[in-house]
Amino acid sequence: MEKRKILLVEDDDATLFGYERALVGAGYAVTTAQDLKQGRSAVLNDSFDALLLDFKLPDGNALEWIPEIKAAYPHLPVIVITGKNDVPTVVAAMKSGAENFLIKPVETDNLEACLERAIEVGALRRRDSVRRRLSQGSAPFFGSSKAISSLLDHIQVAAESETPLLIQGETGTGKGVLARWIHEYSSRKTEPFVELNCSCLKGDLLRSELYGHTKGSFTSAVADREGLVEMADKGTLFLDEIGDMDLSVQTQLLKTIEEKTYRRIGENRVRQSDFRLICASNKDLLHETEKGTFRKDLYYRIHIFPISIPALRSRTEDIGPLAENLLGEFGYSRLPLREEVVALLRDYAWPGNIRELKNMLERAQLLARGEELAPAHFPGLDGGGSGNARDDAMQPLDELEKRHLVKVLESCKGDKKKASKLLGISLASLYRKLGKLTGV
Ligand SMILES: Nc1ncnc2c1ncn2[C@@H]1O[C@H](COP(=O)(O)OP(=O)(O)OP(=O)(O)O)[C@@H](O)[C@H]1O
Ligand SMILES: [Mg+2]
Repeated sequence: MEKRKILLVEDDDATLFGYERALVGAGYAVTTAQDLKQGRSAVLNDSFDALLLDFKLPDGNALEWIPEIKAAYPHLPVIVITGKNDVPTVVAAMKSGAENFLIKPVETDNLEACLERAIEVGALRRRDSVRRRLSQGSAPFFGSSKAISSLLDHIQVAAESETPLLIQGETGTGKGVLARWIHEYSSRKTEPFVELNCSCLKGDLLRSELYGHTKGSFTSAVADREGLVEMADKGTLFLDEIGDMDLSVQTQLLKTIEEKTYRRIGENRVRQSDFRLICASNKDLLHETEKGTFRKDLYYRIHIFPISIPALRSRTEDIGPLAENLLGEFGYSRLPLREEVVALLRDYAWPGNIRELKNMLERAQLLARGEELAPAHFPGLDGGGSGNARDDAMQPLDELEKRHLVKVLESCKGDKKKASKLLGISLASLYRKLGKLTGV
């Protein structure tokens, strides 16, 4: 085992030498310093398991330094050594964050026992903070409203189970983000997370993407190829926009889900894949089944554990904390946000949900050029008079989207490329939406 490293700060030569000899004899690696200045430079240059600190030093006392140490190295245990009968000093040292104290003359056994305990506490603290960071770091922040909290509780259960999940929600609510997190949180986390957007491919191409093919099975199949179902073996298969999946492929998918088997196109061999299925859709799938564009049996097969992420405008209390969290991710530090900015953000309907909020904040931060964010940095939101979120919440989504598109286009002076960036959609989608609006 690597030797534990101790930093010993003591100005008296003889005492320093005595402690050092005892500690080295007990198997520690010891670095010495004789004043605060040397001590400061030692902690900058090396990392220690514990700090033994004489109370009175030529250039100051321990009380000045301990808070500084604790701020920079919260896990480093500090033991203060003081003269006899100096109760107020001991109390002050402990209050400022020291782990323990020793009174001169210090006995070797006592010194060692005290160090051991302190080092153990330091190690525990470090482990605990790593664990906390891991559990916080992997979970994306969606808000803390009641609606979201109970959703997240559900999701923890979902993540630990193996049932298929269906994540529904308007565009930009974070369905993709959530799917990935569920995988990260599940027991399959070390296996692949395989993602397919079902709206991008049709027919044979989609089928081949999912199931793979053998060489020559169709015109463009120039070599054997494994499909995503195969790659997702032992991991998670995420089928995004499942509502847009070709009906013919839906039939095949149903079989695959039920039997966990599939065949590559052009091959007779039946293969097996143990994947966990997560689907997402921003369409109302039940409605799609009524229209006949989504198979009912498939719907019931994937609708076992439905998760619905609420739109931002239906949980306005989450908008402020979410905005601050996103800004924090961008490295913006002038938080909390001004009340008037939060009010402005809450008062808007966010048809593009978190995606739109994120884009808007990014742009506002650029506009602010290092200044504190103010309403003026949110052109388009600022006094646009589009009504407030509560009114908007009562509007059909199509209507909101239409108004929003027009407003964003206006604010970009008709520049569609800029508008599509701001809206967080592709230029093609913008044209499609505009086409729908104008009936072209
Ligand atoms: N909780 C969150 N924290 C940080 N960023 C988020 C969060 N949720 C969504 N985003 C951001 O918003 C964008 C959209 O997220 P995502 O693709 O998961 O949404 P979606 O619901 O799948 O939307 P769509 O239906 O349009 O595909 C991404 O850029 C993502 O980084
Ligand atoms: Mg998505």
